[in-house]
Amino acid sequence: MQLVGAGNSIIWRLSAILLVLGIVIAEDPYRFMEWNVTYGDIYPLGVRQRGILINGQFPGPGIYAVTNDNLIINVHNNLPEPFLISWSGLQNRKNSFEDGVYGTTCPIPPGKNFTYKLQAKDQIGSFYYFPSLAFHKAAGGFGGIRVLSRPQIPVPFPQPAADHRLLIGDWYKTDHQILKATLDSGRMLPSPDGILINGRGRNGALFIFKQGKTYRLRITNVGLQSTLNFRIQGHQMKLVEVEGTHTVQSTYSSIDVHVGQSYSVLVTANQAPKDYYIVVSTRFTNQVLTSTAILSYKNSAGKASGPIPNAPFGLDWSLNQARSIRTNLTASGPRPNPQGSYHYGQIKIEKTIMLQTSEGKVNGKQRFGINSVSFVPGDTPLKLADYFNIKGVFRVGSMPYFPTGRPISLDTSVMGLDYKAFVEIIIQNSDNNIVQTFHLNGFYFRVVGMDKGQWRPSSRSQYNLKDAVSRYTTQVYPMSWTAIVVALDNKGMWNLRSEIWARQYLGQQFYLRVYAPGNSTRDEYPIPDNALLCGKAAGKKLI
Ligand SMILES: *[C@@H]1O[C@H](CO)[C@@H](O)[C@H](O)[C@H]1NC(C)=O
Ligand SMILES: *[C@@H]1O[C@H](CO)[C@@H](O)[C@H](O)[C@H]1NC(C)=O
Ligand SMILES: *[C@@H]1O[C@H](CO)[C@@H](O)[C@H](O)[C@H]1NC(C)=O
Ligand SMILES: *[C@@H]1O[C@H](CO)[C@@H](O)[C@H](O)[C@H]1NC(C)=O
Repeated sequence: MQLVGAGNSIIWRLSAILLVLGIVIAEDPYRFMEWNVTYGDIYPLGVRQRGILINGQFPGPGIYAVTNDNLIINVHNNLPEPFLISWSGLQNRKNSFEDGVYGTTCPIPPGKNFTYKLQAKDQIGSFYYFPSLAFHKAAGGFGGIRVLSRPQIPVPFPQPAADHRLLIGDWYKTDHQILKATLDSGRMLPSPDGILINGRGRNGALFIFKQGKTYRLRITNVGLQSTLNFRIQGHQMKLVEVEGTHTVQSTYSSIDVHVGQSYSVLVTANQAPKDYYIVVSTRFTNQVLTSTAILSYKNSAGKASGPIPNAPFGLDWSLNQARSIRTNLTASGPRPNPQGSYHYGQIKIEKTIMLQTSEGKVNGKQRFGINSVSFVPGDTPLKLADYFNIKGVFRVGSMPYFPTGRPISLDTSVMGLDYKAFVEIIIQNSDNNIVQTFHLNGFYFRVVGMDKGQWRPSSRSQYNLKDAVSRYTTQVYPMSWTAIVVALDNKGMWNLRSEIWARQYLGQQFYLRVYAPGNSTRDEYPIPDNALLCGKAAGKKLI
């Protein structure tokens, strides 16, 4: 409480000064959070293991915000090792310093704290946060973020009776440090042990619905590697939102949620009042892992029973579903103007980039990469090296714009791109065995096309240039391509990575340096006054 008070008092003092000066500004509201990160025992699959707790909770507390709210989150690291949290989907506009990945932000040392200053600027939708260093994500430390529309902005569906968060993901019983050591030794991980729904195993999570009411479920795949199919026995789901975009409201009996993706669906309790299974199962894996939660009607007449519904079969089903997910052009987004008012299909593409997944051995150890470059962190966060003009940490251009066909090699890979350029990025998955997902920090992109096989210039003829969905995480099917277009309207250093966590850890990621000369704070905020400094930036003066 004391700490919250301290934060508030600064705001009060600022307000007082502004009052004295006779200035009245309508400032966006602030939400203060104090987070204590610790290890603690958890038993999600029935055996004791070490989890990462936030304020004693696994998963961590949910973040609630309204468009434009400021989020001031003071993270106290009480783990015996460095720790960072990243915000998947919060854009951190003009502010890559707060992005919480090692390329932008110094780790919080053990026993220390760092206050993130974030803003849900011009955003709505369902996102999540997660620990970005080491292999912490396999131990918890993640939670949901929901950004609600401002009261005056219409939402394209009636207010649901309740808004439930479902964090689903594959899970290992093995300690995260053992998993990390396996990867460090150059070996791959075994298959996960199970599936968790809100941190619980089979039938551990319960959702109570009232007959006749409609509920919003915000589903995020917080897992490490598995595409998950989500379905509810006896119930249909109406898709309404994907990662900040209000979608065409199509009805589905199941939805594929790829690693790192978020979907909002509406579910109406219109069946006989009893209990039903909520089912989550892995896709495109040899061994199918399945878990269930319980949807219970108030005044339920009986327990869930009968066969659990099967997932639909095959890659084509999944690909067709992905193509059917489109933006509702007439619905509002974070602003009152409809989402269709931005005609991305009419903007000239200034640059085409092709990213191809690569893998191979370096010094006898398994590595993954993009365009034959496998990322290794520098000794200093790249954003800080850039800011303080420290040489020798990274080289712009170390990530090529096209596949090179060379054998895989290690580098602190950074791709240089112009601020405000409009670019096309084609991601080619050259692995026949896994569904990939790629995530870009700092930007929304339009998923204009995806198909099996090799992308060719003629593939552009099948792009959706009208109502492609705008999101920040896209799947790329095995031996297939996905094309996105993105306006690089956010200056800074931004992580582009595979969400397949072991592959990300073993180098399948790089940074985009979105650059323009000059240092106007209109385009990019200065370094935060509480920024931690480390590596070659240690001891530098902040102002
Ligand atoms: C965080 O939790 C640990 C362990 O419960 C406790 O010792 C410590 O005082 C807490 N710190 C804060 C800032 O709440
Ligand atoms: C650590 O927390 C204290 C209050 O508990 C706060 O004053 C300080 O700014 C925080 N440190 C950082 C680096 O954010
Ligand atoms: C799109 O949004 C509009 C405006 O809110 C709504 O009336 C309409 O039903 C939605 N259309 C579809 C197909 O989801
Ligand atoms: C930009 O930053 C550099 C060094 O950090 C400084 O010398 C220069 O005056 C700044 N330019 C403007 C326009 O603020």
